[in-house]
Amino acid sequence: MLSHILPFLLFIGVVSSANPICTNGFTLVSNKCLKLFPSTVTHKVAERSCMDLGATLVTVKNSNDNHAITAIAGTSTSVVWMGLFCLDNDPSKCLWDDATGSAEMYSTFASGFPHIDVGKCVYYSVKGALAGQWLSGDCEKDTKSYICELPVTYQDSCPFNYNGHCYTFHPPSTFTQAQTTCEKECGNLASINSANENRYLNTLSNKQAPGNLYIGATWPTQDVFNWIDGSLWTYNNIDLSYSHGATCVAMANGAAMSVSSGLWFSIDCHMSLNFVCKRPAGMKCNPGPVVAVTEVPKNPSYCNSSVQLAPGVITSPDYPFQYDNNQNCVYQLATLGSYNILLRFSDFGTEAKKDYVTVYDGDSVNSPVIGTYSGDLSSFSLVSTGNVMTVAFKSDGAKGARGFSARFTSYSYGR
Ligand SMILES: *[C@@H]1O[C@H](CO)[C@@H](O)[C@H](O)[C@H]1NC(C)=O
Repeated sequence: MLSHILPFLLFIGVVSSANPICTNGFTLVSNKCLKLFPSTVTHKVAERSCMDLGATLVTVKNSNDNHAITAIAGTSTSVVWMGLFCLDNDPSKCLWDDATGSAEMYSTFASGFPHIDVGKCVYYSVKGALAGQWLSGDCEKDTKSYICELPVTYQDSCPFNYNGHCYTFHPPSTFTQAQTTCEKECGNLASINSANENRYLNTLSNKQAPGNLYIGATWPTQDVFNWIDGSLWTYNNIDLSYSHGATCVAMANGAAMSVSSGLWFSIDCHMSLNFVCKRPAGMKCNPGPVVAVTEVPKNPSYCNSSVQLAPGVITSPDYPFQYDNNQNCVYQLATLGSYNILLRFSDFGTEAKKDYVTVYDGDSVNSPVIGTYSGDLSSFSLVSTGNVMTVAFKSDGAKGARGFSARFTSYSYGR
């Protein structure tokens, strides 16, 4: 029994140290990461410099954010570029660089601003009568200091740590091989859930893995998009001029093809491409040790066993051999309170419409049903809304089938 407790304790140790941090020498202020660059440059050069770090020029969505700029700018700087560009003399026509919309909801423009005849790029006044207020300046002629902004993340030794996730880049593989490689790192092919994350990965991949890049999306039919890690399809960057042709999705990168860099397009899953994996930051990945220290039969099914803590694998009894008739199994899965469970069926074959697997979003078979599955299915993933999940398997008295194997891991839903 001790063998089950050991990995659990290690896991707790890791998570309790998960305080928000900043990477790249940025400073945590107002729940975001900021850094002042004192050299005076044009807006475009400032923007490019932030982008090289996966960052944007500073954005301001409320008065705390606005004060944060003064805190970071210090005493020697008088004005700094912000990540805001105005199309007209109205805050609702000024758009944030991070693609979150306009400055209509919050702005502190100085009286008479924005004034696009003076300039369309917005800067922040640190001192004097206009301290804390925004003005517009000439994007190409004016030079100013600037502040870059990164989202907070969690302590991890991984090299690319952004917004609570670690990313790794790998040399070419087919889609299935790529996902297997990512799972060995306790991750998945990367989902991309915002314009900023897309920009970050696009910038990095130019350096780390030039050429087109598999991301963790599938596009089986014209209107159906999925992320393999189970996250919701909330952000879409598919190149609309490029029609749907195949099931997998790649990010265009560099000069290849007719798709511009950063946009996504469909591609045959058998193509060998570079790829990027993603996992939550601050989690130790130990796919091996859990098995190594656990004294259980070679292929434990965990049918009817006590609650299993993520990560782990559950299977039908006797998998990969056929299960017997009249099976009745319940599997209880759990992870730490602040995480969700990602359950990925890598293999699924039951007697169609006779033998069923039902997945519940909670700690018992009385919890809401996420889905009921039967027959031969290609791999699929499910995510719980809380930190517990229950799986039930029932077979009838007729013949068996090869059954199923599913890996469950901790997952954080846009922490
Ligand atoms: C699992 O538990 C159920 C309900 O208690 C029982 O009917 C079933 O026989 C058990 N399955 C196995 C393989 O022990």
